[in-house]
Amino acid sequence: MAYDSIDVRPVTLRIGAEVFGVDLGGKISNRQRDELHQAMAEHQVLFFRDQNLTHDAHKAFGRMFGDLAIHSGVPGLPDHPEIVAIHADANSKFVAGENWHSDLTCNAEPPMGSILYLPIVPEVGGDTLFASMYAAYEALSDRMKVYLEGLTAIHDGDHVYRPLFPDLDRRYPCSTHPIVRTHPVTKRKSLFVNASYVTRIPEVSKEESDAILNYLYAHCTNPNFHVRFRWKPHSVAFWDNRCTQHLAVWDYFPQTRSGFRVTVAGDAPF
Ligand code: SIN
Repeated sequence: MAYDSIDVRPVTLRIGAEVFGVDLGGKISNRQRDELHQAMAEHQVLFFRDQNLTHDAHKAFGRMFGDLAIHSGVPGLPDHPEIVAIHADANSKFVAGENWHSDLTCNAEPPMGSILYLPIVPEVGGDTLFASMYAAYEALSDRMKVYLEGLTAIHDGDHVYRPLFPDLDRRYPCSTHPIVRTHPVTKRKSLFVNASYVTRIPEVSKEESDAILNYLYAHCTNPNFHVRFRWKPHSVAFWDNRCTQHLAVWDYFPQTRSGFRVTVAGDAPF
């Protein structure tokens, strides 16, 4: 795919591209916006360097891709409820996203994508791994694809968020989604289960559900489906939540890694 208003450099053949020639906090032309949409459809996660995003600019950039979603598990910033802080330092007991997941798949309409901006990163470490769920699906055997077709999985937010915020008296979403979903833009099929939110496949016994889910999670850890992003200060990662999973590596304790994330609303998987 040729681009003329942005410079798109794939990081791997399957997933991930670095994008140059666009100031996300400045004026983005319609042509650049359209090409960013195209690059997202083609590469699933886009990486940007040397950006300066105020909270308002961060939200404005997100709105180029849809409405912003309020995080259903983590409280947002007091004056910017659409923005959640992603922060870890010497006092942290956990970090967000340490297990493989897609964001908020517990929602009835999980987000289309998330935009993470990190002005502060550790000297080394703190990478984010992304996995292509297209690649994971396509590498399944034909027999397994037939088996999974029509099955669903229960994605529950309660066991994820209640232990993190024991003082908050909230109800967290729980939703049932197809295990194989079709991307609304590309029409490609992808695997849509993740170890963080999914509790079981309701159509089969608990034993069978556990065995199948464990097989799928192990399958998704194949590095052939992955790209690993090495952050620098003021980098941005924008991922398509409908066809990827990600994992934040916490190998930099007690150093600080800090920034902000906005989430773009999505629709019900089919
Ligand atoms: C997240 O899961 O949104 C956090 C990703 C990261 O910190 O790299």
